[in-house]
Amino acid sequence: MEDLLQIKGLWKSYGGTLAVADLSLSIKAGKIHGLLGPNGAGKTTVVKCIVGLLKPDKGEILVNGVEITSSESYKSLIGYLPEDPALPEYLTVEEFLGYLARLRSVKPQEAKLRVGELMEIFSLTRLKHEFIGSLSKGLRQRVAVASAFIHKPKILILDEPFLGLDPEGQLKVKSMVKDIVKHGGAALISTHMLDTAERFCDTVTIIYMGREIVSGDVESIKQVADANSLEEAFIKLINRR
Ligand SMILES: Nc1ncnc2c1ncn2[C@@H]1O[C@H](COP(=O)(O)OP(=O)(O)OP(=O)(O)O)[C@@H](O)[C@H]1O
Ligand SMILES: [Mg+2]
Repeated sequence: MEDLLQIKGLWKSYGGTLAVADLSLSIKAGKIHGLLGPNGAGKTTVVKCIVGLLKPDKGEILVNGVEITSSESYKSLIGYLPEDPALPEYLTVEEFLGYLARLRSVKPQEAKLRVGELMEIFSLTRLKHEFIGSLSKGLRQRVAVASAFIHKPKILILDEPFLGLDPEGQLKVKSMVKDIVKHGGAALISTHMLDTAERFCDTVTIIYMGREIVSGDVESIKQVADANSLEEAFIKLINRR
């Protein structure tokens, strides 16, 4: 299977603050990879480098085999959920998703269907005429997550997708991710929900202060840490530093 995402020797600092140090990882088609680490570990910085929001100080990022600085077209392959999605308060749910479909070059005749389908999946249909500004935090997160799937992306880059979602919302996100991955896609998911990561991710990378602590499949990480769960392994490995 080909690598859909490759990060090679990534470094990023903000002024004097080192946020990511010599990080490498790759994700093959058909795989879900968890990016784990305590607050401030560098997860969001990695994610922002992948989607082109931040310029790495050093290192290479390849999406579908193409170095991202050499082409803008890779962006159409990516479905991105930011950590703090900024949603326009004055648009309705349906207007916003329709607007994003146009922005993402979804054909007009398909866009209406796709927006309807995503609103159904994320139980937003009854709220389609509500202003986003009037929605609860979790409902806004549902809208943000739905928007990441609007153009049927091949590669998902989701920064804390489960944050604020109720159990049904979390289940919907998981099944949408699984569906894309099953059809040859790949996903990078940053999360603090280690129980979920343990069951949901094929492989994970744990980072701390910008550096990789361990990377691999969940079972091998549990073995390395002599732990019964990913959560226990995480705590043990971080505390050793
Ligand atoms: N815009 C910024 N300017 C300066 N420093 C920043 C900026 N964004 C992040 N940092 C610093 O970079 C480091 C990594 O932050 P980052 O947001 O990538 O961590 P994270 O793993 O996503 O954390 P969290 O779990 O809290 O979301 C931290 O030390 C943080 O203070
Ligand atoms: Mg973050």
